[in-house]
Amino acid sequence: MITINDAVFRLQTENTEYIFRKTKHGHLEHIYYGAKLTSPDIEALAHKRTTQAGSTTVAYDKEDPTYCLDSMCLEWSGIGKGDYRYSPSEIKMPNNSFVSDFVYKSHSEKKSFVPMKELPSARGKDNECQTLSIVLHDKVSDVSLTLIYTVYEKANCITRRVVLENTDASPLVVRRLLSMSLDMPNMGFYLITFDGDWAREAHRNDRFLKPGVFIKESRTGSSGNKNNPGFLLCEEDASEEHGRVYGFNLVYSGNYLSFAELNSHELVRAGVGISPHCFEWTLNQGENLETPEAVITFSDSGFNGLSKNFHSFVNNHIVNEKWQGSDRPILYNSWEPCFFKFSQGKLISLAREAKKMGMELFVLDDGWFEGRNDDNAGLGDYSVNKKKFPFGLGSFAKKIRKMGLGFGIWFEPEMVNENSNLFREHSEYALRLPGSEATLGRNQLVLDLCNPAVRDYIVSSVGKILDETGACYVKWDMNRHISEFYSEHIRSQGEYFHRYILGLYDVLRRIFEPRPNILLESCSSGGNRFDLGMLCFSPQIWTSDCTDPVVRLSIQSGLSYLYPQSAMGAHVSDAPHQQTLRDTPLSTRYNTACFGSLGYELDLRFLSSVEKKEIKEQIAFYKEHRKIFQYGTFERLPLKSSRLKNKTFWLVKGKDETIAGFFQLKSGVGEETDVLRINGLKDDAKYRVTTKSQQLYIKRFGGLVKHILPVTLNPDGFILRMANRFYALKDCVENYECSGKTLAAGIKLNNQFTGRPYNNTTRLLGDYGSSLYTIKKTSD
Ligand code: DGJ
Repeated sequence: MITINDAVFRLQTENTEYIFRKTKHGHLEHIYYGAKLTSPDIEALAHKRTTQAGSTTVAYDKEDPTYCLDSMCLEWSGIGKGDYRYSPSEIKMPNNSFVSDFVYKSHSEKKSFVPMKELPSARGKDNECQTLSIVLHDKVSDVSLTLIYTVYEKANCITRRVVLENTDASPLVVRRLLSMSLDMPNMGFYLITFDGDWAREAHRNDRFLKPGVFIKESRTGSSGNKNNPGFLLCEEDASEEHGRVYGFNLVYSGNYLSFAELNSHELVRAGVGISPHCFEWTLNQGENLETPEAVITFSDSGFNGLSKNFHSFVNNHIVNEKWQGSDRPILYNSWEPCFFKFSQGKLISLAREAKKMGMELFVLDDGWFEGRNDDNAGLGDYSVNKKKFPFGLGSFAKKIRKMGLGFGIWFEPEMVNENSNLFREHSEYALRLPGSEATLGRNQLVLDLCNPAVRDYIVSSVGKILDETGACYVKWDMNRHISEFYSEHIRSQGEYFHRYILGLYDVLRRIFEPRPNILLESCSSGGNRFDLGMLCFSPQIWTSDCTDPVVRLSIQSGLSYLYPQSAMGAHVSDAPHQQTLRDTPLSTRYNTACFGSLGYELDLRFLSSVEKKEIKEQIAFYKEHRKIFQYGTFERLPLKSSRLKNKTFWLVKGKDETIAGFFQLKSGVGEETDVLRINGLKDDAKYRVTTKSQQLYIKRFGGLVKHILPVTLNPDGFILRMANRFYALKDCVENYECSGKTLAAGIKLNNQFTGRPYNNTTRLLGDYGSSLYTIKKTSD
């Protein structure tokens, strides 16, 4: 809800409240952002300025020495009028100075969201959101800046963006224009970011906010895997379940900048927007520049409360309406089992196995087009490899569909190999700086998406294959960072990175809007473009090229602060793992992947019959609980003692059922009791808690089997190896019937194996072991 009274603007969501007001000079002064207040006392909440803030301070108003922009909380602040904090904008104004002073001119309200011209944005039905637009005008030049706020009540999120318009006769040059900035008094903030690189994305990093500016920025051309645009500010003792936390994110897939500054007056400024790295944008008279949307949220119930807001926002306002709440298919992907080496026959036999196990969609990954037998050639050409598919792709897709599976296909449309027909015919389509050699990444060059002819080529060649195959799923890959960003198709090279992303959005729109039934999964070597911009087009994203469950625990935990499970593609692959060589139980690979949009990516041909049986059971379990896994309320359980850093608890909560995942990295001897504690259930209702049964492979006991068998057998001999393929023990299953209150107090789980003989009341987890628990309401 938006209320405006006496120049005070109140933006309310279900649980939060955001207040600012117009000052006597027309600046917008931030008053409060936090938990909802019934009737806020504005004067009491406002940041005080009853004295001048030091003798070096610049006073904006000569009549009022306390009116110093540097020590005020502002909704927007320019440069050159006494505010020395990091400004959300740096503009060379029409008068050639860098001084800007935007003050209130007018405002308007709308009972809906306001769509953007070229950028994707959040959306909501008319009763779900309201928009407030405030026009500010520069005091000297004829330039206006409109601040746009959209309030998403149920999701407790507010989006912010700006539009800069030049009505002055002289041009202006934008060097930096972020989407928002927010000023607040310091609460002893910690700054939390999600960082990494290829195959180790989104690892959580916490740091105490000290004086100075902390900036994280992408310069690779994509939002990137080095750090995610989303970040958090929390008070010192905030935990998963308690404390005040602010979250920030950006609906954008290109270079971004996020910052948090603690200034000398103990004020914190946070902001996010397009990165100013090599950015320069000229606006002539009558032109405007629209920034991507920033998203902010607040929770006073810790990180889990904050994630709940962001998840609801993504599921209901970012993901395209057609896919909101839709069941995501359990897919089988050909990449890890085959890489480039396959024939149609091999794929058909894998697809048959996948179908038998209950999978729903077959995805033909890289390697299907002419010349593409490794990563040196073929990108850019979309004619099918006749050796691999003698009867064409259409006929292959038909065969897959006939088995009862959907057909999905991989593309990497933004790229070209020098060894390709496209490059031989149109080398000018690739990014290159005239007079110099282009830099390769994974042996490929980037296509210039600023060139309309390139965009047309992609739209028609990808579209043709989609229509020929009747694909219902596309994996859209992008495997390298951008270099030599230079194009003859733009006015100024400072526009390059932003124009590239606008080009990408244009292509995605033109391909997928006319084909609304195709589920798009975006990928960029895994999570190199895991952002809200891509999620507007692709309801799910391939989270990481690393499918090792141990690494995935950190990656999926990290992303879960900002994005819901439905958005995370998560697959079970072979062990030992292709990147880490870690050997993990099949159960743990599944137990991690099922907290996302599930898929399998392992060679089904060499599985033992016990493994096949286990996968069948896993898939049946996922189908039974798919809604909870993909859309249930996700929580991370706080694990306080340092020993417990070794363990992870994830929860997904549905209406009458909760599923908990318990994961252990290293096993100890005589471990402490593990406690399953679940808050927020109905105090007096009764719940049945049961461990999901899973297989316990004989080979996990190694030489120990000698001691329990009547005859001595070589643990690595033929008989036991064969037995391991056909026979497995059942892992310990615990059953409890207890109230919601008991669950909040915590169930002490059975002991872990400590070397005494195995019995089925002992939890045999070992290194990288894990279990799932279902908690089902049996009476109210
Ligand atoms: C990188 C992706 O992340 C992988 O899943 C796979 O699609 C390869 N590219 C194919 O080249």
